[in-house]
Amino acid sequence: MKPALRRLLPSPATAITVSEAYDVQRRPRVDRPWIGLCMVASLDGSVSVDGTSGGLGNANDLEVLLTLRELADIVLVGAGTARGEGYGPPRTPGKRIGVVTNSGGVDLETDLFASGSGFLIAPRTADIDETRVQVIRAGDDRVDLAAGVARLHEVCASVQYVQAEGGPRLNGALLTADLIDELDLTWSPRLVGGYGPRLTTGAAETDRSFELAHLLADDDGFVFSRWVRRAC
Ligand SMILES: NC(=O)c1ccc[n+]([C@@H]2O[C@H](COP(=O)([O-])OP(=O)(O)OC[C@H]3O[C@@H](n4cnc5c(N)ncnc54)[C@H](OP(=O)(O)O)[C@@H]3O)[C@@H](O)[C@H]2O)c1
Repeated sequence: MKPALRRLLPSPATAITVSEAYDVQRRPRVDRPWIGLCMVASLDGSVSVDGTSGGLGNANDLEVLLTLRELADIVLVGAGTARGEGYGPPRTPGKRIGVVTNSGGVDLETDLFASGSGFLIAPRTADIDETRVQVIRAGDDRVDLAAGVARLHEVCASVQYVQAEGGPRLNGALLTADLIDELDLTWSPRLVGGYGPRLTTGAAETDRSFELAHLLADDDGFVFSRWVRRAC
């Protein structure tokens, strides 16, 4: 059974579902799709334990990820996370998952690609067999994320909402390019130590400001926050 969820902010509510909390109107953008980043972190800021995020989450956290995935038109993930977490096809037929890679070293034999839901975002120089997978080419020898995002309509004509699911290096590149409109961050109630990465890695030092849209907590002590980029 999932631990009971309550809303602390903006208005306290004792019984709330993940769907009620996250299926909300998102500010439409005209220049590009809205991009939300969904992550779970320990209290000491690590996003992995033993090399994966699985040990940090709980049932409500998984439901947040899957609910946001349902709401999104496209999911984006870094190649490191796709490889390390064994990304498979999404539950909803037709939903596309884009794997961001510089090298093109992505296993096309996995179910993600065999199902037709996987596609790649890669630079022009990456050696990829395009008869086996759809590729958005953006950038010369490194992915130009802004250019890649601008071409997502090639895989989903009506793309308005993109869910990014990490990992930290992809997040760092999204942050540098100012491509994060929403952060859905779960705090796992544990200190894990170690050398796991933080939410973003490799981003240029920057200062992007966000507003707290909601704060939820469950009976396991998990805290669920939703942050929206402050309008400039
Ligand atoms: N807690 C969470 O919510 C959460 C979520 C996701 C991941 N994680 C954890 O994060 C760790 C993986 O972190 P990571 O930083 O190595 O993963 P990552 O960002 O998923 O992957 C890094 C790889 O993705 C490609 N890539 C990422 N950003 C790119 C960009 N801007 N342009 C082109 N290619 C890009 C490159 O692939 P190529 O090598 O193919 O060029 C790069 O080597 C794992 O431990 C995972 O469990 C945690």
